[in-house]
Amino acid sequence: MMLTGKKVVVVGGSSGIGLSTAELAKAEGAEVVIASRNADRLNAAAAKLGVTAIPADVTSDESVAGLFRTCGPVDHVVVTAAQLKTGPFKTVAMEDVRGTLEGKLWGAWRVARSADIRPGGSLTLVSGYLSIRPRPNSAIIAVANGALESLTRALALELAPVRVNCVSPGIIDTPIRAAMPEAARLDMLAKTAASLPVGRVGEGEDIARQIFAFMTIGFATGSIVYLDGGGLVT
Ligand SMILES: NC(=O)c1ccc[n+]([C@@H]2O[C@H](COP(=O)([O-])OP(=O)(O)OC[C@H]3O[C@@H](n4cnc5c(N)ncnc54)[C@H](OP(=O)(O)O)[C@@H]3O)[C@@H](O)[C@H]2O)c1
Repeated sequence: MMLTGKKVVVVGGSSGIGLSTAELAKAEGAEVVIASRNADRLNAAAAKLGVTAIPADVTSDESVAGLFRTCGPVDHVVVTAAQLKTGPFKTVAMEDVRGTLEGKLWGAWRVARSADIRPGGSLTLVSGYLSIRPRPNSAIIAVANGALESLTRALALELAPVRVNCVSPGIIDTPIRAAMPEAARLDMLAKTAASLPVGRVGEGEDIARQIFAFMTIGFATGSIVYLDGGGLVT
């Protein structure tokens, strides 16, 4: 077990990639804290994994500061929290554009400022393939992801000896698309799987294993790993 004696905080740990990361860190011996907004979902996930739950909202300076005051010094921090609202560039509501950045970009920024990470520990951010393979109607997500990748490189210098890395997932089957009509969601996942060299979409655990690698490879900092089943080369 490679994380025995380490304290790991997963912000966004109640669902999807964050939940898989929390599960893997716990299995590797870490003391794990998960944080997100919906207390019922958070507590249910924490009880199932046997980890600690601390409600927090990354869009609030005070909430994020309070989370890390409660946690104290930690070894590894992972930010998967995001709620994305997008639409056609010319008409998408500016409220949705700002809200997307407030969570995904400024949320990660707040976490990076507030977390007290021990020397040699790590911060892992999660961007996404749209930063370099944009699609229509998703400019704000491309922008948020690109900014997170730039932030990763900048913080790898400024926060050293804390290590800062980023994983950029392709299409991963998580609850992030729960609002889509089920038939459309399944159709999109099947078409994506068929288009990829690996013949499937990703699972939360695929990305969790990369995040675990960032935690445990002491030579990794300023790295951005694109993990997408070959999506960027098709
Ligand atoms: N799944 C994909 O295909 C994919 C592809 C590329 C990139 N990504 C990126 O990977 C990351 C994780 O995605 P996922 O698929 O694991 O999503 P998910 O299953 O929807 O999980 C998102 C988590 O973030 C929490 N969260 C959302 N807004 C929050 C806020 N303001 N404060 C605190 N917690 C918040 C959610 O809980 P509450 O709602 O209860 O707060 C939940 O625990 C995101 O940055 C996403 O953009 C995902």
